[in-house]
Amino acid sequence: MHFDFNGQIALVTGATRGIGKQIADDLYDLGAQLILTGTNPDQIQELNSKLPKEKHGRVEYIHAKFDSTESPSSFINTLRKFNKIDVCINNAGINRINNIDETLVNDWDDIIAVNLKAPFLIIREIAKTMKKNNYGRIVNIASIFGVVSRAKRSIYTTSKFGLRGLTLSVANELARHNILVNSVSPGFVLTELTRSILSKKEMEELATQVPVGRLATTDDISSVVIFLASSLNSYIAGQNVVADGGFVNV
Ligand SMILES: NC(=O)c1ccc[n+]([C@@H]2O[C@H](COP(=O)([O-])OP(=O)(O)OC[C@H]3O[C@@H](n4cnc5c(N)ncnc54)[C@H](OP(=O)(O)O)[C@@H]3O)[C@@H](O)[C@H]2O)c1
Repeated sequence: MHFDFNGQIALVTGATRGIGKQIADDLYDLGAQLILTGTNPDQIQELNSKLPKEKHGRVEYIHAKFDSTESPSSFINTLRKFNKIDVCINNAGINRINNIDETLVNDWDDIIAVNLKAPFLIIREIAKTMKKNNYGRIVNIASIFGVVSRAKRSIYTTSKFGLRGLTLSVANELARHNILVNSVSPGFVLTELTRSILSKKEMEELATQVPVGRLATTDDISSVVIFLASSLNSYIAGQNVVADGGFVNV
């Protein structure tokens, strides 16, 4: 039994760094052809122009910025040119923390646009292709804050609970087409996003509260995603796998 993505096309949003990059690297190693997104047009151009020779034709970076100031329509239009997308990982996400009485409506608009509306628009589009091909695996990257919450996470939590709701409904609808939709909810992962929210001291304190005794690496999360995104997952639909080292159970 082994993972094999040869002949498959996988879309990973937010694949320039962090969890998304790890998933993209792992899918590449397992044979997939990749469509990857990032927000910075210059970086996208550079990543495409500096692709090592062996990745030519197998990896393409596309500019996609989903916040409230940007229209995702050109990215969605780009997806239409692919007549086959086997795997979709809705990973791009942002977080801004604040007390509820100090939250900005602009933060609501941005976080909901990136974390919830973009996955909705992407799934809405690629479901057509996946249905036609009678195959698809979709993994939405949610969060433990789509299962529990803590102070100052009102908007982020709302977006991730919403993403789990979207996952459930779409999973029920698409499973009969051999399109299995699930979510993975990471705990605290050592990425730029976490470093932008928590101080080093806060991260050290948190690690002591995690039963596994450390924060997650991107590998810890990617391995769960890879299973759900693979054809070895043949019967799991509408589930949310919490990959948090046991944190929410304590
Ligand atoms: N890190 C954690 O502890 C943790 C825990 C639970 C859940 N998660 C979830 O896991 C996912 C990845 O998190 P991460 O920690 O790997 O984040 P990260 O290191 O900050 O990377 C975020 C990725 O999303 C892209 N992105 C940022 N803003 C975007 C926008 N407005 N539109 C489209 N793409 C955008 C970034 O592209 P650029 O490089 O171009 O900015 C980057 O590729 C997110 O959905 C997050 O909510 C993370």
